[in-house]
Amino acid sequence: MKPRQPTSTLAVLRRLPAPVALAIGILFGILFARVIPWTSPYSSVSRTLPTKAHHHARQPVQLPSLEQRHRVLELLTTLSPHYTKECTKTNRVQPLYADQVTERYNPLVGHDTSNNANAWFPAFGMGSDQDDPAEYLMRTSSEHKYFFAINLYNSFDVIPDLFATLFRVSAVLGYQNVFVSIYENGSTDQTKALLRIFDALTRSVGMRIVIRTSMRTRGAFNHRIEYLAEVRNAAFGPLHELRDTENEYFDTIIFMNDILPCVDDLLELIWQSRRNNAGITCAADYMYHQEMQSPVFYDNWVARDINGTALENAPFENIFHHPDSSQRFQRHLPIQVQSCWNGIAILDPAPFYSPPHVKFRMARITEGECSASECSLICNDYWNAGYGRIMMVPRVKLAYDRRVFDIIHPDRRNLTAIRGYKRLGGLPDNPRSDPQDRSWFGPHDRLFTEEESEPLNFVPGPEHVWCWGWDGAGDLDGPDVDPIWERMDNRSIQTSAVEVRHDRMW
Ligand SMILES: *[C@@H]1O[C@H](CO)[C@@H](O)[C@H](O)[C@H]1NC(C)=O
Ligand SMILES: *[C@@H]1O[C@H](CO)[C@@H](O)[C@H](O)[C@H]1NC(C)=O
Ligand SMILES: *[C@@H]1O[C@H](CO)[C@@H](O)[C@H](O)[C@H]1NC(C)=O
Ligand SMILES: *[C@@H]1O[C@H](CO)[C@@H](O)[C@H](O)[C@H]1NC(C)=O
Repeated sequence: MKPRQPTSTLAVLRRLPAPVALAIGILFGILFARVIPWTSPYSSVSRTLPTKAHHHARQPVQLPSLEQRHRVLELLTTLSPHYTKECTKTNRVQPLYADQVTERYNPLVGHDTSNNANAWFPAFGMGSDQDDPAEYLMRTSSEHKYFFAINLYNSFDVIPDLFATLFRVSAVLGYQNVFVSIYENGSTDQTKALLRIFDALTRSVGMRIVIRTSMRTRGAFNHRIEYLAEVRNAAFGPLHELRDTENEYFDTIIFMNDILPCVDDLLELIWQSRRNNAGITCAADYMYHQEMQSPVFYDNWVARDINGTALENAPFENIFHHPDSSQRFQRHLPIQVQSCWNGIAILDPAPFYSPPHVKFRMARITEGECSASECSLICNDYWNAGYGRIMMVPRVKLAYDRRVFDIIHPDRRNLTAIRGYKRLGGLPDNPRSDPQDRSWFGPHDRLFTEEESEPLNFVPGPEHVWCWGWDGAGDLDGPDVDPIWERMDNRSIQTSAVEVRHDRMW
């Protein structure tokens, strides 16, 4: 490999923790790849509802130059992340993890890498010695399109991290393949002001984004879930508008709450979703439990194992009641579930586009349906529509605040420090048997096992699912109806509920 001129960029890369450098490395590959085959990436949907007049007014926009985009990206990846700046707290991920990640996520890269699998990875020192950017310019892009739907409310604290991650992930997927839709409702902090800044920055690198804000509060709705469902559906507005006005369809939806994900968290969820042709794919989210003095699994109002039983806000070994699922959870392996949401959910959009046109909704109380969360109900609707391939990816652990984030992303210690003695005989340490890789709160660069790449064997859904209803009639800020085992629709307990209907694998 020819020695390269040390540039300011490389100096920045050295200072960054490896996963960040890795993401930026990917980024450069794509930046180069994007210079020529770029059709106008600017939104055809305005911030208000699209009108005919708007379409006439569309002007060809001068795209920022490569150098200009590079400058914005450098700014974004060094200035804006705060909590997620160090997804791994040591300055280096294990080289083996870096290799695994490079290979694993290669199929998600949003441009054709066929003539050199590593060419998109130059800044990490693993790429080719290709110095001629012209090589990159000839590539065509992969066509898989991603729709990010994000609900925010008083999210001032997490927005910079959210966007930093979004930019990096989009750089991998290809900016031209990404659309971001944000719906913000009635924040009382400076969320709106911050969103305006990021709206501008997003456009400046040529990514499409729509941010809608609302001052509408729950007041107009009788039922709490009805309101929450409306807020979530609002983030999907542009999905339907783009189909109606541009005939544009997306292949994967990424739904996020106000969460702090790392780049590889999102990539792994997307990878698993596509690898398994899953209807819904979620992570595992954690909240701090004061009495236990440790993080516990959080979203048990929605999460149900494949027997229909609720997950627990409990220590690691006791989260799942279903024995096989519990086994897999403790080994951080993907698990089929009846229902889950957990902060980020990757959705197959097919049931949104075609009948029965699934959307977030409240329970049909008059028909005797239990008042579950709008997220549980959409899982049930996916089952009934034949998209019951729902799975949880325990490797991806999400936090809502700094305290839990720090606990679930601990320092990686060297093996000598863990054992307390130096290995005799000078045998090299085996990273595959690193005890940290087996612990609950493993570091971010936990190595992948073969089982994590095997597709799940999906089975039909349970006949009964534990439902803890929330009618919201009183003032109780949580489920207020006695829980029941609710009988599921017959369609969900047949094998046809878990057949692959929409092949999204590469
Ligand atoms: C906005 O929506 C969130 C849920 O996404 C909800 O918790 C919050 O109360 C809503 N804000 C207002 C002002 O209604
Ligand atoms: C590993 O940890 C031990 C004990 O804390 C320390 O003495 C040693 O220098 C460390 N080794 C490396 C390579 O960092
Ligand atoms: C499985 O579900 C049934 C209800 O369908 C319930 O009675 C049973 O306790 C569940 N088993 C476990 C292990 O959760
Ligand atoms: C669902 O299946 C059960 C048992 O096979 C049957 O008794 C019931 O009538 C069916 N329900 C509907 C709505 O078809």
